[in-house]
Amino acid sequence: MPVPIETTPTFAAEPAVDAQFVAVPFGRDLAPPAELPLPVDALLAHYEAKGDPGEVVEVPVALGSGIRRVLLYGIGAGSAADLRRAGASVVRKIKGGATVWIRVPEVTDAAALAEGALLASYTFRIGASRTPPKIVFVGGDEEALRRGETIARATSLARDLINTPASVKSPAWLAEQARSVAADAGLGFREDTELVDFGGIRAVGRGSAGPPRLVEISYAPEGATRHVVLVGKGITFDTGGLSLKPEEGMKTMKTDMAGGATVIAVMGALATAGVPVRVTGLVACAENAFSGSAQRPGDVITQYGGRTVEVLNTDAEGRLVLADALAYADAELAPDAMIDIATLTGAAKVALGLRLGALYATDEALASALLASGEVTGDRLWRMPLIDDYRADLDSDIADLANVDRRMSGSAGSVAAALFLREFTGGRPWAHLDVAGPARSSADDGEITKGGTGFGVRLLLHYLTSVK
Ligand code: BES
Ligand code: MN
Ligand code: ZN
Repeated sequence: MPVPIETTPTFAAEPAVDAQFVAVPFGRDLAPPAELPLPVDALLAHYEAKGDPGEVVEVPVALGSGIRRVLLYGIGAGSAADLRRAGASVVRKIKGGATVWIRVPEVTDAAALAEGALLASYTFRIGASRTPPKIVFVGGDEEALRRGETIARATSLARDLINTPASVKSPAWLAEQARSVAADAGLGFREDTELVDFGGIRAVGRGSAGPPRLVEISYAPEGATRHVVLVGKGITFDTGGLSLKPEEGMKTMKTDMAGGATVIAVMGALATAGVPVRVTGLVACAENAFSGSAQRPGDVITQYGGRTVEVLNTDAEGRLVLADALAYADAELAPDAMIDIATLTGAAKVALGLRLGALYATDEALASALLASGEVTGDRLWRMPLIDDYRADLDSDIADLANVDRRMSGSAGSVAAALFLREFTGGRPWAHLDVAGPARSSADDGEITKGGTGFGVRLLLHYLTSVK
């Protein structure tokens, strides 16, 4: 079982006399700590520190009964991005289970500082575990710091789900995690294992010893008028199916449920974050396995709503499970907007790399709101085209649609996948986030940790909190 976020921050008015690490912001005319051996200006000049976010100058001081360290940290202009980076850089200096007292700059929104510090302390290990640092925030607006903690906790939960190995993470396991998150947050929960009308989810899941399911979590705050549906791809492992992936491409595929993890984590944080709109979270959980009972290239399936699809490549499985969930949301939930999030195509990763998510949208207001939330939260998006010229690539000789271009030209794979999904949105305002790139990181960087990143949790929570 994952343990969402190991560090529980505490709050204090002043650092303890024997604090091992005291982090103090600089670059904004803040009073320097009295304990420093030299004037702060001289120290900063000596280390050529400019006060950029991420910059940390370590100064040993005699304090209490021994040598302690003061960490002078830069906060740049004090923007949210600056503070996230600053908080993360301080925590990355702390080794072992030491305690760091972080003096909070009074001048800015402290939520981002807490978010960066807590997310940088995230670790996922099976076996001998590392002791996480203890973080004490000194001063600052506790309410804002708590907001940052909520966001960091939700992101860490998503990371835990993503980093859990597929030997543990069956579709049933993922659904159980969703159930317990929903129960803890007082949300509605339903799970469909029969999937009578969900031909896409059944087809993808049939090769696995762990049967597929569709999870539905509902949040309906009093007085809500708008309804947003979130749909997450929950492929617990993607071998490619009979269209088998090569070894190199397969070894990270336990993270192919990252979109689903994001949806579960966002749902769990809605009440605490005070989101004012009704939100339904759907997660299509299935393992795309290689076996004698797996679907074959050339099979024809019937998606939710009756449309037939010729499955020419069983590795293009994400769109099959998402199509069912989107068509179901359109027909049964009548939302004002639908947003899906999925590690859908390697092509999106090639196009935009590891730091940007691909955004496709049929509604301008929805697109601008998501782009804006991306800039604020650091889960950045880049708008991509839903160009009609490519739609004919998905024609099938024998069914209503093909799941890939039958000529397998391989061009614009992320666009083609988005065009496929659009067919199932019933013309409702819809956005699709292809996060194959940013959902996982190959290295620690600021508040991002190696492995599952939880990309989209901060973005969607911000969007849902500010949606009108
Ligand atoms: N899960 C993969 C996409 C992916 C690739 C995510 C790399 C993260 C990193 C998806 O199911 C997939 O296999 N897509 C194929 C589609 C193709 C067969 C049209 C791909 O991108 O190669
Ligand atoms: Mn695949
Ligand atoms: Zn996949």
